[in-house]
Amino acid sequence: MSGAGLSGGRSPVPSEPVEIAAGLLQLRPWESIDAAAVLAASQDPGIRRWNPAVDVVDLATARAWCSRRADWSQGDHASWAVKEPASGALVGSVSLTHVDPTHRGAEVGYWTAPGARGRGVATGAVRAAAGFAFGALGLVRLELFHAVENTSSCRVAEAAGLRLEGVHRSSHRYGDGLLHDEHCHARLADDPVPG
Ligand SMILES: CC(C)(COP(=O)(O)OP(=O)(O)OC[C@H]1O[C@@H](n2cnc3c(N)ncnc32)[C@H](O)[C@@H]1OP(=O)(O)O)[C@@H](O)C(=O)NCCC(=O)NCCS
Repeated sequence: MSGAGLSGGRSPVPSEPVEIAAGLLQLRPWESIDAAAVLAASQDPGIRRWNPAVDVVDLATARAWCSRRADWSQGDHASWAVKEPASGALVGSVSLTHVDPTHRGAEVGYWTAPGARGRGVATGAVRAAAGFAFGALGLVRLELFHAVENTSSCRVAEAAGLRLEGVHRSSHRYGDGLLHDEHCHARLADDPVPG
């Protein structure tokens, strides 16, 4: 177990990434071979707007992005490449961030590669990450924030059992450079498991 970088208790995040089987998807540790797919995804207008990776500009910076997400040693995040097991193709990204051992909470963030949208990738990935958060990590509360305009993301949150709790006004500057109102969704460990 790791714990460096967090105050108020040891992080429950293991220092080495773990893999999760999630039906037709697999959540795998990020590898440098994923860099080309990350670079391509970072150029998608939706991802540029809602998950801007401003530091990803070429293969070298995409490799660095993968390497940061493969390093769980600080205990503050758990991040996965979402893959189709049969082909090994990268179809998305999901991360538990802001893992907080004192309050036993975290946030979840995600994107789906443009060619893989509309077939349950994000919903499946968030459900699997939530299962890990409440099971292996023993967290109590998982939060998800999305811009109010991002209605697909709202559907993902609801389908993964994260209820809408309210609106945070002008709370986050997204990739378009503007501050947006955000929905705050959350699921507690003892909320019903969706699906
Ligand atoms: C939002 C996003 C993650 C959804 O990913 P996804 O894998 O397509 O999501 P799912 O297949 O699990 O479906 C979720 C909802 O999105 C809708 N959707 C999104 N894109 C779609 C597409 N191209 N075709 C059909 N439906 C789509 C679905 O209708 C579904 O709603 P429903 O359950 O009411 O039918 C994806 O569109 C994306 O990466 N967008 C850009 C980045 C982003 O918004 N990230 C989240 C930041 S909070």
